[in-house]
Amino acid sequence: MRSKHPKLQTPEDTTAATAALAQQDVLVHVDEEGIAWLTLNRPTKRNAINPGIVFEMNEALDALEMDERAKAVVITGAGDAFSAGQDLKEYFREPDAGHPMLRERMHRANAAWQWRRLMFYPKPTIAMVNGWCFGGAFQVLLGCDLAVAATDAQFGLSEINWGIIPAGIVTKSVAMALSQRAALYYIMTGENFDGARAVQIGLVNIAVPREQLENRTRQLARTLIERNPVVLRSAKTAYHHCRDMGWEAAYDYLAAKSDQNMVRDPEQGGATGMRQFLDDKSFRPGLGAYKRPG
Ligand code: COA
Repeated sequence: MRSKHPKLQTPEDTTAATAALAQQDVLVHVDEEGIAWLTLNRPTKRNAINPGIVFEMNEALDALEMDERAKAVVITGAGDAFSAGQDLKEYFREPDAGHPMLRERMHRANAAWQWRRLMFYPKPTIAMVNGWCFGGAFQVLLGCDLAVAATDAQFGLSEINWGIIPAGIVTKSVAMALSQRAALYYIMTGENFDGARAVQIGLVNIAVPREQLENRTRQLARTLIERNPVVLRSAKTAYHHCRDMGWEAAYDYLAAKSDQNMVRDPEQGGATGMRQFLDDKSFRPGLGAYKRPG
């Protein structure tokens, strides 16, 4: 049955919402391989996250969710910065001087895209860290499923340097992702570190010389695009929920989630893979993914 609510209707052209995006503070490009490139576009402000980025990112993620061309999402920054974190002027100082509800609205919208949306985004996401990555930008980085950095990219939890704590939800994310030693070291010293160190402490997956950054990111995106998308989504959702669950609940939840895939997955991944391995002997699961239909 067709919903009367426009937001709940499937558009005839699933690319229409993407085409209608503002494309000012966030550039959106879906390429021929199905990679959706989201570029924070305030290079002269080192891509500091202002209200424009906040609201445009929410819109862009909404649009790409339904855009059937987009199979994986890459978030990066224009120019020589990934992002210098929250915009101290436009995100903090100016709204702090205005109506308290406007400030709350903006903070809520920021939480919406930086973690509530990204953590459970239905398509795989990669942060491509091309340069400066500070403070609030850690949340974007950790909100993405995977991350590739330029070896010389500079990271820093700089909040302590200007006399605040890493808030939003940054401290929680950092505590979940890093060891206590690494997390407290960078939270408490505000020292910078590079892409190679970010790999060592588990903040990003891969660091490569800057000139290889885009190719390596593409390669990783292609691998994700080749996987069964329903199961991929389910696997990441399960990962996030299981971290907060007790053992018995997690065991039961994972069994239920596996059953859910049997209903939701049009490819019938488990059965198809098993048939190709056991009956057709056409692939080995230990050496790569099964051949997807179509
Ligand atoms: N908020 C607001 N404006 C910012 C910003 C931020 N987080 N980061 C950079 N900018 C602005 C600067 O004020 C400057 O604006 P102007 O041209 O109007 O003077 C412009 O972006 C360029 O910044 P600049 O400091 O001149 O660039 P740089 O290349 O010399 O240094 C950084 C880059 C990222 C090291 C430096 O800008 C910086 O320390 N930024 C703040 C990082 C931070 O602590 N972020 C945490 C926020 S949660």
